[in-house]
Amino acid sequence: MKVAMGSDHGGYNLRLVVKKHLIEKGYEVVDFGVDALESVDYPDYALKVAKAITDGDCALGVLVCGTGLGISIAANKVKGIIAAPVSDTFSAEMARRHNNANIIALGERVVGEGLALKIIDSFFEASFEGGRHEGRVDKIKNIENNYL
Ligand code: RB5
Repeated sequence: MKVAMGSDHGGYNLRLVVKKHLIEKGYEVVDFGVDALESVDYPDYALKVAKAITDGDCALGVLVCGTGLGISIAANKVKGIIAAPVSDTFSAEMARRHNNANIIALGERVVGEGLALKIIDSFFEASFEGGRHEGRVDKIKNIENNYL
């Protein structure tokens, strides 16, 4: 599976840790940066990762900023993106099983590396359940189509 990754400076270090972990697990990572610790704007990286998914180049994405908030808010403005900012393993699993999230967002200033990797595993090992959740996610798409 191809995974798109991106972060701002606030998520730079954790992004590299998660990237190494995903590669070790056998995922193909497409890394959109940022490439150094200089201050950048998180929406730019959210858009690169979101587009890689909506263009069909990558199946899932990981975004990291200081909190996981700004970068997920920005990604969620792209039609077809469901980005979940997560800081616990249960929510990470449910983001896939119930919400069919295609991006997980982490906050480097919120979670430590150990927890972050458990969160990543919970997200990537889970699958969308469909069924009653399909209709709910379809309603999210309807909101997107009518109001975004
Ligand atoms: C950058 O300082 C910080 O605001 C950003 O990484 C993120 O936390 C925004 O939501």
